[in-house]
Amino acid sequence: MWITLEGGDGSGKTTQSNLLAEWLEGAGRTVVRTREPGGSEVGQLIRDIVLHHRGDIAPRAEALLYAADRAHHVATVVRPALGRGDIVLQDRYLDSSVAYQGAGRVLDATEIRDLSLWAAEGALPDLTVLLDLDPGTARTRLDSADKPFDRLEAEKSEFHGRVRDAYLALAEAEPARFLVLDAAASPQAIAELIRARVDALLA
Ligand code: TYD
Repeated sequence: MWITLEGGDGSGKTTQSNLLAEWLEGAGRTVVRTREPGGSEVGQLIRDIVLHHRGDIAPRAEALLYAADRAHHVATVVRPALGRGDIVLQDRYLDSSVAYQGAGRVLDATEIRDLSLWAAEGALPDLTVLLDLDPGTARTRLDSADKPFDRLEAEKSEFHGRVRDAYLALAEAEPARFLVLDAAASPQAIAELIRARVDALLA
């Protein structure tokens, strides 16, 4: 089973990933935790460019860098793990590209999705959990975390508003793959809803 977590910066993906991994491992499952960008050695190098390069990166170059990371990650980490029968629990996947590069950078959403599908040879997760949060609350959370912003986090609020709307549209278009949750709820309440859905999928 392949589960991806999506949502804006500051929506609590890491907390939920930790809670879900703990629960799955407690139930005796082997979980491979990974992320994009940066879930492979090559991906770490790409992550450093896309998140920390000082100065502009052309939007299409940014989209291609995320797609290159994805191609290598799916081929060398995700597919092998799924082949072994492990559960892959992944922070961000192609929906991030459609939301951030498609809506955020205002590129064509269909082209961005097709690019990612080409990169990943059509691979799609069994479940995508979308942690939905209004960008204002997300920004307050990021501010209080007291970490320097990366290139994407530093974008203005209109950018993050477009990202959120794009995520909700993606979830609406694929209701069978998506579980949309209110990220303003308590971490425990969110975790329980995720567990219920995963439990049903595993049964
Ligand atoms: P993330 O690893 O969630 O950041 P952090 O570890 O700081 O919480 O994601 C890195 C950033 O990359 C995030 O702002 C979203 C962005 N991103 C894209 O723009 N497109 C993509 O395809 C992916 C996977 C991430």
